[in-house]
Amino acid sequence: MANAPKSALIVGASRGLGLGLVETFLQRGWSVTATQRSPSKGLSAIASDALDVETADIDDDASVAALHDRLSGRHFDLVFVVAGVATQAHDPLHEVPREVAAQVYLTNAISPVRFAETFRDTLAPGGLLAFMSSVLGSVALNESGGWENYRASKAALNTLVRSFALRHAEDGFATVLMHPGWVRTEMGGQEADLDIATSVTGMADAIEARLGQGGCVYIDYKGETLAW
Ligand SMILES: NC(=O)c1ccc[n+]([C@@H]2O[C@H](COP(=O)([O-])OP(=O)(O)OC[C@H]3O[C@@H](n4cnc5c(N)ncnc54)[C@H](OP(=O)(O)O)[C@@H]3O)[C@@H](O)[C@H]2O)c1
Repeated sequence: MANAPKSALIVGASRGLGLGLVETFLQRGWSVTATQRSPSKGLSAIASDALDVETADIDDDASVAALHDRLSGRHFDLVFVVAGVATQAHDPLHEVPREVAAQVYLTNAISPVRFAETFRDTLAPGGLLAFMSSVLGSVALNESGGWENYRASKAALNTLVRSFALRHAEDGFATVLMHPGWVRTEMGGQEADLDIATSVTGMADAIEARLGQGGCVYIDYKGETLAW
């Protein structure tokens, strides 16, 4: 169908940037499937026939498999894994209990790529798999320190996504690692530079510009390339 709306699966959309991306893509005429872990006030406040709300926890393989079953036969132009955590992000690594550090790594690096592996067959031809990274995941740009374990988890995400993208280089989809800017959300805090609307508008522009293109890029919400 020439005029079929574009479709997105936004994973981790209960609040913050994920919720903002849902609202932005709906405003742009996309149909959106959004996931939450538990009932989200933000998602339930959106009145749109183009929104489908699902439940999934990316750390739970059975939950991800069940979501994949429920969405069987659906195809998305964009699958965007937004979910992430920043537990004890301000503490130096040696002060973060091992199990906390490991959980941040699981949620921010392992689970998004496992989710992508399960959901890559839902991508429409020329589709895009996007992952919410951070400039803090850049090894080259780490000149201020801080956020040690979180940085490492996003650097690991970047590395794992590059390997995933190379493994699937012939499979007809592209990958994007996105830095949303420093944004005023529960994670970003109220001192952050950007409001959610500015970040998600920029990210949606950058994603729409990359649809149909190949490769694996690490870019920010302005579409500018970041150093690995
Ligand atoms: N804000 C910034 O300045 C900034 C900068 C760079 C990168 N980022 C990245 O952007 C993404 C979104 O951040 P945010 O600022 O919007 O944070 P946020 O307001 O804390 O939202 C985090 C989202 O991730 C979801 N989530 C966490 N663990 C999950 C899991 N295991 N399964 C499914 N969903 C899960 C949360 O769901 P619940 O509501 O159920 O907890 C929530 O929807 C994260 O990956 C973050 O690292 C943010």
